[in-house]
Amino acid sequence: MNTGFPADFMWGGATAATQVEGGWNEGGKGLDTGDCRSADPATPRAQRRERPFKEMTTERMKAAIACEDTGIYPFRWGSDQYHRWEEDLDLFAEMSMKVYRMSVSWARIFPNGDDAEPNAEGLAYYRKVMEGCKKRGIKVFLTMLHYSIPVHLLEEYGGWTNRKMVDLYVRYAKTLYENFGDLVDYWLPFNEMNAGRFAPFSGAALIRHEGENFDQVVHQALHHEFLASALAIKLGHEMMPDSKFGCMIARFCHYAGTCSPEDQLQRQHDEQYTNWFYTDVMARGAYPSYMDRYFALKGIEIAKDPDDDKILREGTADFISFSYYFTQVSTVNTAWEKTDGNLVVASKNPYLPTSEWGWQEDPTGLRITLNQLYDRYQKPLFVSEFGLGATDVLEEDGAVHDEYRIAYLRNHIAAMREAVIDGVDLFGCTIWGIIDLVSNGTIEMTKRYGVIYVDADDAGEGTFDRYKKDSFYWYKHCIETNGEVL
Ligand code: BG6
Repeated sequence: MNTGFPADFMWGGATAATQVEGGWNEGGKGLDTGDCRSADPATPRAQRRERPFKEMTTERMKAAIACEDTGIYPFRWGSDQYHRWEEDLDLFAEMSMKVYRMSVSWARIFPNGDDAEPNAEGLAYYRKVMEGCKKRGIKVFLTMLHYSIPVHLLEEYGGWTNRKMVDLYVRYAKTLYENFGDLVDYWLPFNEMNAGRFAPFSGAALIRHEGENFDQVVHQALHHEFLASALAIKLGHEMMPDSKFGCMIARFCHYAGTCSPEDQLQRQHDEQYTNWFYTDVMARGAYPSYMDRYFALKGIEIAKDPDDDKILREGTADFISFSYYFTQVSTVNTAWEKTDGNLVVASKNPYLPTSEWGWQEDPTGLRITLNQLYDRYQKPLFVSEFGLGATDVLEEDGAVHDEYRIAYLRNHIAAMREAVIDGVDLFGCTIWGIIDLVSNGTIEMTKRYGVIYVDADDAGEGTFDRYKKDSFYWYKHCIETNGEVL
């Protein structure tokens, strides 16, 4: 029986290029869809959860490209890691981090996405960062695409709605293998494969148009992403025989609201349609039969080429990763109280505490999730994101006393340890937003996840200097005791 974390457990932190990097128009980088998401710092929190704030329109997109939008574009500066990456890596090393989950920006490597040659400056930049990790004894977990795509791909081809994207993505993947194959330890072709369904623009660069069956659009785009992922994994395995490839979803753990059979059935459907579908395709290599009825119900017909089933079968993931932030209730009662959650508005669980942003904290749900996933797939698991978004206060002496974050991390890591003792093959975890970065959902800096504070506000004002929060020292100790002292 396992008694705790394995000796080689991968303790780490995660970021995404769009949210942390900045330098949006430097080093030959092209404009990407993240650069076009604007927010007025004065927008109240309640409005940031609504569809008009979250979704993109063709008009806003045009204004953003022409820089005519009246808002500001926080993803254009992020946390300025583009200029401060060495300092960030030094802090990660000081924390004894074993792995850094970072992403590369497609538009920094291919500014338009379909350029004849990659951008040498972009490649050199990422090579420096990855070599910097290696020099400090930190492994690289590379998310090849964390949401944003070059704007040109959206304008010219309609983004993921077009099958042409599959070839362009595979070409991009090949460039990554050729240039970083010697530096990357774990590859992840796509961040959160289910995000496009719940956050169409930020997750998959999809714009809703009047009169179309948007469910059809989303699932066709998703099919293209599945193919791109499978082909990239197959190619990666061929080019780098020892490489390890993962898949990832935003994992939504559901509890039935009551023990009525109707609520139980609703829970089963919610689990299938929001979670299992995605990992079944990427880990088992085929569309599950339960989706046929769902597709019929929603009027969805996926256009597939004759070889597509074979492609999915041949490109399955070696390990499964997921983001975990909250759990929710499944019920047929439409009057059930609602609260916010990652990417979705969720039915509220009266037994759980709620964060400032309405996300329900549930460490036990993480243990349940790990057991469910391992039971179903028997593949190694990696928690690629977890963490608490909260308002922090930078004291005059440079300290940040974030005991609430420490409590959150402690409880979730304790739950992971229980899952390992349950027999789950969990080989690592990366705290989301290990350094403060711009929130994906609400486009603000105020919602901080980091154990490292970045002195910048929602309008991008500040020094961008880094400060160690109390949680920095706590996590360092956790890593150095391999999760024994929490
Ligand atoms: C995940 C995304 O869904 O949640 C991240 O992969 C995101 O990009 C994270 O930042 C937290 O969500 P938010 O909306 O609080 O930034």
